[in-house]
Order: sequence, then C-alpha cells, then structure tokens
Amino acid sequence: MHSTITTRDNQQFMEDVPLATIARDFGSPCYAYSKDAISENFLNYQRALDSQDHLICYSVKSNSNIAVLQTLAKLGAGFDIVSAGELERVLLAGGDPAKVVYSGVAKSAVEMRRALQVGIHCFNVESESELALLNRTAAEVNRVAPVSLRVNPDVDAKTHPYISTGLKENKFGIDINKAFDVYQRAAQMENISIVGVDCHIGSQLTDIRPFIDAMNHLLVLVDQLAESGIRLQHIDIGGGLGVCYQDEVVPSVDSYMAALLPLLKDRTETLVMEPGRSITANAGVLLMQVQVIKSNGEKNFAIVDAAMNDMLRPALYNAWMHIHPVESKANRTEKNYDVVGPICETGDFLAKDRLLAIAEGDYLYLLSAGAYGFTMSSNYNSRPRVAEVMVDGEQLHLIRTRETFEDLVRGEQLMAEQ
Ligand code: LLP
Repeated sequence: MHSTITTRDNQQFMEDVPLATIARDFGSPCYAYSKDAISENFLNYQRALDSQDHLICYSVKSNSNIAVLQTLAKLGAGFDIVSAGELERVLLAGGDPAKVVYSGVAKSAVEMRRALQVGIHCFNVESESELALLNRTAAEVNRVAPVSLRVNPDVDAKTHPYISTGLKENKFGIDINKAFDVYQRAAQMENISIVGVDCHIGSQLTDIRPFIDAMNHLLVLVDQLAESGIRLQHIDIGGGLGVCYQDEVVPSVDSYMAALLPLLKDRTETLVMEPGRSITANAGVLLMQVQVIKSNGEKNFAIVDAAMNDMLRPALYNAWMHIHPVESKANRTEKNYDVVGPICETGDFLAKDRLLAIAEGDYLYLLSAGAYGFTMSSNYNSRPRVAEVMVDGEQLHLIRTRETFEDLVRGEQLMAEQ
C-alpha cells in the first residue's frame, strides 16, 4: 500500500508538506489527501490490467470531492455512481459519461432520465421492478438503456456484516439462480440493451478467494447466456479490495489480478471493476486538535475537535484506525487514551485504548481516512462540515471550504407569524 505519511525531524509529512502546516493554515478539523497516493493507487489497477480489456470505474461514494474525481478523470478513470448527485459531480469534474456505471438498489425515474440523457456506459440493475421502470423511462425519452444485471452470487465475503453484500440474505442484486430468466425477459424489452453482468460482494475484503468464487459463478451464467444467444460485452466484478487499517495483511492489486485474470483468458468480455476504498482510503488523513484532556480515575480521555459526524466509521462499525500526533514533542508522558469527540453520544469516539504522548493543543491525525470519511460526514449537533485539502508535492489546494453557519441553515425558513 502506498505510504502516504513520512517522518522528517520528528514531524509527519504528507508528500512535501508537514501535517502541522496544513492544520495551522486551514484550521482543524480538516481532511487532507495526497494527490500522488490517489493517482498511484489508481495507476496500480491500470498497470495490473495492462494485458486485459478493462474499464476501472472508481467508486465515487468512497470520496466524492470533485478535485479527487478530477484527478482520476485525468488519468482516464471511469466512475461507479449510485445517485444523480454523484453523476453531476462526475460531469462537473470532467469525467466521461460513457465510462460511468450506475449502481444502486433502486434508482428513481428522474435519476434514470438524467443518466440516459448524458449517455452512461451502463445501468447495473438490481431488480425486475427496476428493469421495468428503466424500460418505460427509456421509452419515454426515446433511448435504449444499456443494462447489466447485478446478480447476487451468494458468496460470503467474510467482512464486517454491515459491508457484506453478496449473500442471499442481503438486499442487494438479483439471485444468481433467477438471473438467467430475468435476462431472457430483459432481452424482450424494446428499450433495454443487455451489455453485461455485475456483482459486488462486499467491501474491505482481505481475502481473494471470495472474488474468485464470485467470478466463477458469474462465468457459468455468462456461458449459459451465450448458449441462449445473449452475448455479454463486459463482466463487472465490483469493488471491495480491502486496505490495511491496523495490521491486516491485504492482498495487493497485483496478486488479486494474478488470481483473477487467468479466469478470463481467451474470453472476449471486458473486465469492469469498481474500486473505491483501495484508491482513496490510505491517501487521506483527518487532522484534529486536542481540546481537553481529562481523566476519570480509570480512563484518560483526549477530547478532540473532530467527532463522529466528521468520521463515522469507528462509531458505526467499531472500525479501528491509527491515530498519532503530527509532531513528536518533548515533555509529553505516554498514557493510555480514548480519543473522543465533543458530541453528546457515548458512541462518539475515534479511537479507544491508544498509547499517546500528547497534551492539550496538540494536533493529531487519523490515518486511512480518505475513503468513507468526508462522504459519510453530517451536520449532527449543528457542526459545520470540515475543510478538505489536496496536497500535491509542496503545493496545497483547498478543495472544499469549511462550512459556515449560513451553510448550516441554508434552505431553512422561519414560519410566518400567525
Ligand atoms: N460497487 C458497489 C456496488 C458498492 O456498493 C461499493 C461499496 C463499491 C463498489 C466500492 O467498494 P470498495 O472498493 O470501496 O470497498 N461505509 C463503509 C463501506 C461501504 C461500502 C459500500 N459499497 C465503510 O466505511 O467501511
């Protein structure tokens, strides 16, 4: 995994900028991303897929800042989207609509219309009702919708239950055993053009086996379809490759592809992938400042200015992420801390039981925060969403300004006096 943070003279750097400088210049809390790390993580996929017809559709939900999308669009990335909002972001960032795959459990007719209008690569359809709606909507706007069915291959991704999606018990996709029949019906629909098959079995996978099992299941279906006269142009294996948050041993993109690509040898279908986390997670950190240190006798708390509204993963999944001071300072004693936010919720923590040598006023950074960090942030407790900064060598770009009170109440209205 690309190492985003380096140490020089007791200071932590992202590319050529000290993290302390970012926190001081842009305020705390704030997200910082390394342009180089994002690019390298994407290029890793591109290089590993060199010998294979492919389309890498970066999963926008993991980090949808338009400067991140712009960086990837410039490298030729396609995009995996789940809403009309994400589609507009891709267009704004200069992404090519012809390289967009549209996932999502239930798209609305309005969303479908916009995607048809701009000409996306394909809709990953998750149910027969959605297929029927897409057929009707495409007819209304005089288009033919390119479709891939998202099938559920009933594979256990062996990841956190909240982010495991490929089992029968999950709400995602069409049961693979029913997919053949749904394809036959889709083939009869006038405004549907079948282009592929898709699956996404879960996120933060640390084992390649489930991907291989899923691909094998897909290939059986692809061959059955071919025999019935339905030839697919692409196979989309989804995203889901994990990253190292703590000490997980995660397969590299190269080893994943070394296991996957032989299955596609002598086949004509293009391989589509939808990686999110493996491109952005380890390219970003969340910077924060220690506000208060307090102890209740048994426990030490470092109360920071970031909170669960800024980074929800620890609260939602009990996720473990590294946290460190941005500078090692003298006169600090190491103690065991829970690093918590100021929100009135017991679940408002970022890290528990960590040995840290810190004092009030120190800046800390939470690692692996580039994916599902800002995109899952909210205004809970009327906290403005934080700034985002892109680091490029020695340069800093403010890619999202911190929200103001005006932003918080935008669109709200007092009622007329009765
Ligand atoms: N494609 C589809 C259809 C997806 O649902 C997802 C993620 C991806 C691609 C990208 O997966 P990735 O490569 O990033 O694993 N909030 C959770 C993760 C939720 C993932 C949802 N789907 C977290 O913070 O761990």
